[in-house]
Amino acid sequence: MLFLAIVSASLLLSSSASSDVCGTIEAAISSSSSVYYPGTCMERIASRSANYTRDISHWSAANSQPSLRSVEPGSAEDVGVILQILGETRTKFGVKGGGHTANPGFSDTPGVQIAMYRFSQVEYDASTQTVAIGTGLVWDDVYAALDPLGVNVVGGRLAGVGVAGFALGGGYSWLTNQHGLTIDTIVEIELVTPNGSVSRITQHWSDPALFFALKGTQNNFGIVTELVLKAFPQGPVWGGLRFFAADQADALKNATVRFAHEVTDPKAGLITAFNYAQGQMSPAVFLFYEVNSFAPAFGTASIADYSSSVIEANINETLFWGERLSAIDPDTLLAYNIEPFLPSLFSHNTGPTAFPPSRDVALFPHNLALLWSSNTTDNVFVDATRQSIGQIVGAAVADGQNIVAEAAVYPNYALFDTPVERIFGDNLPKLREIKSLVDPSNVMGLAGGFKL
Ligand SMILES: Cc1cc2nc3c(=O)[nH]c(=O)nc-3n(C[C@H](O)[C@H](O)[C@H](O)COP(=O)(O)OP(=O)(O)OC[C@H]3O[C@@H](n4cnc5c(N)ncnc54)[C@H](O)[C@@H]3O)c2cc1C
Ligand SMILES: *[C@@H]1O[C@H](CO)[C@@H](O)[C@H](O)[C@H]1NC(C)=O
Ligand SMILES: *[C@@H]1O[C@H](CO)[C@@H](O)[C@H](O)[C@H]1NC(C)=O
Ligand SMILES: *[C@@H]1O[C@H](CO)[C@@H](O)[C@H](O)[C@H]1NC(C)=O
Ligand SMILES: *[C@@H]1O[C@H](CO)[C@@H](O)[C@H](O)[C@H]1NC(C)=O
Ligand SMILES: *[C@@H]1O[C@H](CO)[C@@H](O)[C@H](O)[C@H]1NC(C)=O
Repeated sequence: MLFLAIVSASLLLSSSASSDVCGTIEAAISSSSSVYYPGTCMERIASRSANYTRDISHWSAANSQPSLRSVEPGSAEDVGVILQILGETRTKFGVKGGGHTANPGFSDTPGVQIAMYRFSQVEYDASTQTVAIGTGLVWDDVYAALDPLGVNVVGGRLAGVGVAGFALGGGYSWLTNQHGLTIDTIVEIELVTPNGSVSRITQHWSDPALFFALKGTQNNFGIVTELVLKAFPQGPVWGGLRFFAADQADALKNATVRFAHEVTDPKAGLITAFNYAQGQMSPAVFLFYEVNSFAPAFGTASIADYSSSVIEANINETLFWGERLSAIDPDTLLAYNIEPFLPSLFSHNTGPTAFPPSRDVALFPHNLALLWSSNTTDNVFVDATRQSIGQIVGAAVADGQNIVAEAAVYPNYALFDTPVERIFGDNLPKLREIKSLVDPSNVMGLAGGFKL
């Protein structure tokens, strides 16, 4: 198949009519767009470009057939110019978004490969709760841009899939149970029709039929340059990929049937994949769960020795509070972090520091992290953190680590209401004196934190 593709590309290359098409495109487009040539094109060998190679590359190597030329339009208007020339000259072409179609010839071509990379904007509009997305992007780019904003769109599930083909073909997403297919979240489509005109099509546009027709038909009506999608608040997510041995296939079948029949939580999703590779069955499951946003409480104790009884107390606390708090909030996440260091950890200083107030005895930080759904407003979790610290300190004292009861605690792990005396100890009077000189009107008191 690849051989045939090369032959047909060579035929095209030998046709001066087709080569002229590229010259025509190059002359007609603006400087925001570029035409690239294949390395196999002898007269253009000097122009062989990485951009051409990237433009014709597809998820399936079998679909990465050589093209006569590739073009990266940089504006919707140029897309219109290109479409008009291709139409007038009846030249074969392909439109590539993320290039993830599995079907040969759907987004690749022996003719002119249009690669949409330059449509790469991700613009979130908080007032309308929408995101305008360029159709040259893959979902990975979109998620990376939206992640810091705490919002998301209904997009692809696996890495590398393109926005354009996915969204214009339907779009089954991890968020579909909550918000629908990607096509259900489209608010506006920027479309370049074959006559070269650029339109922004919405439900209310003069041609609502086109808004309907575009949602599922990919490249049938023209080339889409931008999609405006609804944005949704996005909290943290559990997810991952688990592989199983062949003999677990039956148990996996049972678990998948249970999931399909019994799980009604729209935040949960999975794909069970019965794979066969390298001579054996190796099933896998992609898992997804959108959790509520978390409220965390950090707590700490300074431990003089991570003895087995201290660690046992931590395991007991994990189970004790894990069971009780999960019954209150199923999103509960507890982490009791044992953090041993060398006893010499405090010996590297070149002078005194505010923390730790004493370096005479090695103390190891110990971190409790309790996380719960942020819509659970009660103090149960903070109280649990306090009680648990008390229990762990008690275990250390019972172990003979008397110092732990009064030891300074690490400010980055300490619970929010820890008295500053417990953090800075004997350094506190001196720190307050320095503070009165440097910040006499306590401007920094306007900001939160452990305040001297
Ligand atoms: C690893 C993998 C994971 C996948 N996961 C999912 C999934 O979770 N859910 C799901 O629903 N599907 C999934 N798919 C299928 C995927 O939705 C389709 O392959 C989709 O067409 C890919 O879009 P693309 O932009 O990457 O593809 P492309 O190959 O670039 O394009 C596909 C089609 O859309 C047309 N097109 C591309 N850009 C435009 C444009 N700007 N204007 C008009 N037409 C255009 C192309 O010409 C082509 O016909 C997956 C596919 C793969 C390979
Ligand atoms: C190739 O593409 C890259 C990335 O889009 C761009 O920066 C570069 O200018 C392009 N090269 C040429 C020769 O146009
Ligand atoms: C181009 O086609 C679109 C879609 O059919 C139409 O709305 C528009 O009027 C046409 N423009 C011209 C200049 O013919
Ligand atoms: C799967 O379910 C069937 C029917 O309930 C049961 O007979 C079988 O033992 C289960 N398989 C495993 C591995 O649990
Ligand atoms: C386990 O923890 C609970 C709660 O802190 C405590 O009441 C109980 O005594 C502990 N059990 C053991 C064996 O340490
Ligand atoms: C918190 O969120 C959970 C899960 O979405 C929901 O079941 C519960 O009713 C919510 N509680 C409050 C107080 O809003």
